[in-house]
Amino acid sequence: MNTKVTASAKEAARILLKNDLVAFPTETVYGLGANIFSESAIDEIYRVKGRPADNPLIAHVSNLTELVILVKRIPAKAELLIDAFFPGPLTLVLQKSRYVPSNVTGGLDTIGIRMPSNSVAQFFLKECGVTVAAPSANLSGRPSPTTWKAAKAELNGLIGAILKGDQSQVGLESTIIDCTRKTPVLLRSGAIGLERLRKVIPEITVRASNSENTPKSPGQKYRHYAPNAKVVLIDHPSEITDYSKAAFIGLDFPVDPGNAIIKICASIDEYAFRLFDFFRECEYNQIETIYCQRVSENGIGLALMDRLIRAAHG
Ligand code: TXA
Ligand code: MG
Repeated sequence: MNTKVTASAKEAARILLKNDLVAFPTETVYGLGANIFSESAIDEIYRVKGRPADNPLIAHVSNLTELVILVKRIPAKAELLIDAFFPGPLTLVLQKSRYVPSNVTGGLDTIGIRMPSNSVAQFFLKECGVTVAAPSANLSGRPSPTTWKAAKAELNGLIGAILKGDQSQVGLESTIIDCTRKTPVLLRSGAIGLERLRKVIPEITVRASNSENTPKSPGQKYRHYAPNAKVVLIDHPSEITDYSKAAFIGLDFPVDPGNAIIKICASIDEYAFRLFDFFRECEYNQIETIYCQRVSENGIGLALMDRLIRAAHG
């Protein structure tokens, strides 16, 4: 398939409405979109990504009226979260209506809903005029693309179009909260940190990893975020003894890195913004070991550590 790269949201929307797949920018990472009501296009997302069929997709909306068709009800606590954080890097899991094809949600009776704040994403969704189901625009198991070039490197020739935008401002995937229970549960950490969430819903709990009795994001059980190189977590770059075919990303300066590829970030936000792009730069340069500095788990630091740990244990 010839993949069209375009800066026109209108053109990209036209291609999506022919039931082709379109990669598009959001503030978190690039998504791989399909018309949520086209069962064949949704099947194609799973096929192209090599994604397990039980791993549900997120519904991307440009307008809250779309929820009338997508979900059974909006609990009061979900409404508070919508008021506080939509549009933005937050996904709410709600009871799905019967109008959404079951292959969108991997057979679950719940659905993840997100309203991106990125202006190109918003324009694209408005032009589509339908809800767009989208996972991240990478092959299953790989780091999410944060640039259109990275989306192209993953999916060129496999999808209808790539809508060009800027590098995703956040760089990590959205925060996911299950709102189907009395007490909302954080399923995946993201740009909206626990501190900010608890200002709105103080009783939010965090999914205990490896617990059988707590709700899960099906995707969390699969290999994730892993580049080709080995990822090694360290507390400080002074721990690196050999820089041959190695690279480093973190907050502190290494003592003597020679001409190794290193990325020093001024803040945890910048580190999150750059991480997946750095992984790809390392792949391009045939790096064998990527050393990543651990960070404190405040704000987006919780999400960054989550992705680093998964990448390291991929
Ligand atoms: O920031 C994001 O969320 C990006 C952009 C493109 O919006 N999307 C994204 O999608 O990261 P994906 O498919 O790569 O990750 C979605 C995660 C998966 O772990 C999936 O299992 C979980 O969301 N998920 C989706 N629907 C769910 C549901 N109904 N219940 C529990 N988890 C769900
Ligand atoms: Mg993903």
